[in-house]
Amino acid sequence: MSTNSASIADTIQEEDGEANNTKPTPEELEALVQVAIAASKKAGNIIMGNAGGAEVTERKANSRDLLTLIDPLCEQTIRDTVLTTFPDHDFLGEEDVPPGAEASASAIDAKLSGSSSDYLWIVDPIDGTTNFVHGMPLCMPSVAVAHKGVVVAGVIYDPHHDEVFSATLGGGAFLNGKAITTGTDDGTIGDAVIAMGSPPGVESLQMSLLGVQALMPLCRTIRMLGSAALMLAWVACGRLTVYWEYDLSSWDMAAGALLVTEAGGKFTGLSGEAWDLRKRKMIASSGRGTIHEDVLKVLNEVGVK
Ligand code: IPD
Ligand code: CA
Repeated sequence: MSTNSASIADTIQEEDGEANNTKPTPEELEALVQVAIAASKKAGNIIMGNAGGAEVTERKANSRDLLTLIDPLCEQTIRDTVLTTFPDHDFLGEEDVPPGAEASASAIDAKLSGSSSDYLWIVDPIDGTTNFVHGMPLCMPSVAVAHKGVVVAGVIYDPHHDEVFSATLGGGAFLNGKAITTGTDDGTIGDAVIAMGSPPGVESLQMSLLGVQALMPLCRTIRMLGSAALMLAWVACGRLTVYWEYDLSSWDMAAGALLVTEAGGKFTGLSGEAWDLRKRKMIASSGRGTIHEDVLKVLNEVGVK
């Protein structure tokens, strides 16, 4: 981090202790994003050092929900980097929370209801752990910062392609420092590349099957890449038109939600309602034409909502 960022970080610390109602300034947002990038790159280096595949040390909510020794190591690295600069900020990482949707939902609810700081870091140390286990270059950290419950900074760093996706609230979205937008499609479902989850949970798996059957004949193609963070980053830069999933945790989506909206896309719940950090169902799109509404209609008609 530069000296300038360090002094801005000091300012954030001071303000944080003063219980004020101000929003982070652009300089403060920049300091947050720079620390998020630095932390993500450290975790990315660990991922790359183990990119050939990793041993499963635990199965979490069910037999398909995998954990390796590297996931908590990446989380600790991110946490150490963040808290060294911002010791008073609060931190929620996937590996701190017991397995399962209920525990994930309670964890973010508890943080939003009574956090020790206005600033909450929401971190998935390796999104796409199954890909990581199998040596697929589709796994990465996802790091977001919420201020008073609203995501204000987000970074998704793909270490396999050395691509840093970053966004700040009101400041736009970037790929390796260049502004990105959600693409140039005209919002026609027939031309859309739609990404979906292939999640471990039984109910969300059933919803994915309903969705794939309904959408596949209507769109250009469907992709299931196994990392929510990657699919959101790719909607933000226009490589994918839409990504939806039935049940995700806050750390899977927080950074990507900001990236998509700052890149000009739409991000809502699966009934089209406004999204917030407590919501688990999501759809992200380029926001062009009526693509968002059209895909939602197809999903809702088969009971995915
Ligand atoms: C998973 C990935 C996957 C999604 C699952 C998530 P993890 O996160 O984002 O794409 O379908 O629902 O749990 O477990 O690899 O961090
Ligand atoms: Ca994840």
